[in-house]
Amino acid sequence: MSIRKPLLAGNWKMYKNTGEAVELVEGLKKNLGGVTDREILVCTPFTALYAVGRALKGSNIKLGAQNLFWEPKGAYTGEIAPGMLVDTGCSYAIIGHSERRQYFGENDGSVNKKMKAAFSAGLTPIVCVGETLQEREQNVTFKVIERQVNTGIEGLDEEQAKKLVIAYEPVWAIGTGKTATPQQAEEVHAYIRKLYLKLYGNAASDAVRILYGGSVKPDNTSELMKEPNIDGGLVGGASLEVDSFTKIVKYKV
Ligand code: 13P
Repeated sequence: MSIRKPLLAGNWKMYKNTGEAVELVEGLKKNLGGVTDREILVCTPFTALYAVGRALKGSNIKLGAQNLFWEPKGAYTGEIAPGMLVDTGCSYAIIGHSERRQYFGENDGSVNKKMKAAFSAGLTPIVCVGETLQEREQNVTFKVIERQVNTGIEGLDEEQAKKLVIAYEPVWAIGTGKTATPQQAEEVHAYIRKLYLKLYGNAASDAVRILYGGSVKPDNTSELMKEPNIDGGLVGGASLEVDSFTKIVKYKV
């Protein structure tokens, strides 16, 4: 079990229009109102942020975005600045999700710029790392993770390094129903923490939260959360329904 405060985060991806989004968080507010020992977060599509932000005001559920651009403003048609996200009520932003790396050309360099821009605007970044199936089969998982951490996550100051959240999402486990075993996940989480120790020292590596993502469901959350280096979950499909996300947040230890 982790010594850090667990963070259960929903990544809604490209699902839910405004009305559906508000309905979902109203249900979550009802079910999760008393939860104080865990941090709860929903990362909605950009278009729902403002409405969901209003619905969540004064609640124990936090709001996050799924991406951002690194410039504070300017002629960047179609992009969203970190400050604009803060304006809607966001306190977190997911950076470098594997779907963004795979379909939208993001890489460790852009991830690094976005992470720093998020911090500058007062957002806490959740930086995603993880190997593909091919990379796992070629036995280069640790090499890939090392590159993603050392290049994508370098250059933070001590306070930022303590605050950062990392999500380990093996690409082969995303949306496939094929969860990494708790042992497989723990092995990589422990490795990420070791790399982090080298980058930022003891205090930061003790504080940084490392979430697991990839087919997290109500029936596998407890097992995953028993591992000492798994500090929470980044949940896709199962965060889109009140019932299943409630069960995930209320996992038993
Ligand atoms: P699933 O939980 O649907 O596998 O998605 C995981 C994910 O990509 C979260 O960011």
